[in-house]
Amino acid sequence: MTIRALHVASELYPLLKTGGLADVVGALPPALIELGADARVLLPGFPAVVAGLSDLQPVARIGDRFGASNVSLARGTLPANGLVVYVIRAETLYDRGGNPYLDAEHVPYGDNAQRFAMLGWTAAQIAQHLDPTWAPQIVHAHDWHAGLASAYLKAAEREHGKPAARTIFTVHNLAYQGVFPSHQFGQLGLPADFFHMSGVEFYGQMSFLKAGLFYSDRITTVSPTYAREIQTLAQGGGLDGLLSQRSHDLSGILNGVDYTVWQPTTDSLIAAHYTDTRLAGKRACKTALQERFHLAQKSDALLFGVVSRLTEQKGLDLLLAALPEIIKRGGQLVVFGTGDPALENGLQLVAQAHPESVAVELGFDETLAHQIVAGSDVIAVPSRFEPCGLTQLYALAYGSLPLVHRVGGLADTVVDASLENIADDLATGFVFERFEPEALTAAIRRAFALYARRTDWKATQRRAMRQDFGWGASAERYLALYRELV
Ligand code: ADP
Ligand code: GLC
Repeated sequence: MTIRALHVASELYPLLKTGGLADVVGALPPALIELGADARVLLPGFPAVVAGLSDLQPVARIGDRFGASNVSLARGTLPANGLVVYVIRAETLYDRGGNPYLDAEHVPYGDNAQRFAMLGWTAAQIAQHLDPTWAPQIVHAHDWHAGLASAYLKAAEREHGKPAARTIFTVHNLAYQGVFPSHQFGQLGLPADFFHMSGVEFYGQMSFLKAGLFYSDRITTVSPTYAREIQTLAQGGGLDGLLSQRSHDLSGILNGVDYTVWQPTTDSLIAAHYTDTRLAGKRACKTALQERFHLAQKSDALLFGVVSRLTEQKGLDLLLAALPEIIKRGGQLVVFGTGDPALENGLQLVAQAHPESVAVELGFDETLAHQIVAGSDVIAVPSRFEPCGLTQLYALAYGSLPLVHRVGGLADTVVDASLENIADDLATGFVFERFEPEALTAAIRRAFALYARRTDWKATQRRAMRQDFGWGASAERYLALYRELV
């Protein structure tokens, strides 16, 4: 039996991306289709989404909702692979320049509750045949933006006596909870008793994330270790109680890599191609990167790269604290990202002080991201917490050894280059335990030590490049969950 599943999210690569969520939403539905499922996606009609779809056709009129008028549902396809994407056309809610969540001053839009309630509500309507030609059996919602989908479906179930679809909620990041003041609850059109501790209420406010966790039939998150971590007081973001209560419905399924996009043998964005046995192209990528960032042209300087959202989560303050170790040992560092202005400034100051060895560029650019991943010797991901992390998986594929904090998905995907792991042919990168400068510094020293032993370094690179984190296995696990539910 073909299972029909609707993925509900706010981003999808290559249409619109601020982080790994977009990569997952762009890759998981096609991987499910490959396995025989009928997977489609619902997105808000952000300008980049509308502009990037082919064959956009009207599906249904929605009318006036959540403060927007003349809302409608349209359907188009992704030019690259024909994936069917539904979009909510609501100009007043979604037609804004820049980031889907924040205004130019990095402040969340004042009507985010309505903007994303519209997303969850429309998903529930599609499950109830808003598109007369297709309705899903599974509504698979991603992160707080889509958290209300299962709440609206639960409300409809109460009205009609049976569920329109079964629901899965995937947590990509528990730190973003979609919390809004309680007085906005009235705007959502949910039954009054849903504003309850057993419901969307969260310490006197309402939380879209909690709605997803509470009302969905199953909860998944993006790595096994993170699934355990979020059930603890320290890392549960106030939701550990609910998550441990639901631990039997909660599972961790590791994200995959889309190797048609991240592949050094075919990547059209990088300076030269290379394979695990012919690494000359990687050296060319490193030279090009040093040139691009005006770093000293030293082929033997150990080059650390960072491609990251610049937020507290990513632990770059710790990297700054350990930076003297990199500089002292003749290494180099390239940081590319955007986010928290204080962190942006701090990084830029360090680059100004050490222009030969540290370069920082602010921005978001897919091409440069690929070039840094390809040209670096080490990709640093020293995150405080990391639900899965895709950057370290891309780094492995490009033979750029990941240096990571042992947390979340980082712990599940990188094996430290300790002597015994090298001896047993297991090492793929550098892993530090405690989130402290000394621990990171020790991992940096391990990287220099391994780099000095070229044969071991190359063997580790080759092993990293041969790791298989393709979507196939993970898509199988999602499909198994779908089958359990329908
Ligand atoms: P998160 O989703 O928490 O940001 P992930 O490692 O899962 O972390 O995914 C990050 C994704 O965003 C990767 O595809 C990475 O290449 C991309 N990315 C991060 N910063 C930038 C940037 N400044 N420019 C382009 N791509 C970026
Ligand atoms: C989130 C997490 C990241 C994860 C991504 C995709 O943004 O921070 O760890 O890889 O979602 O699931």
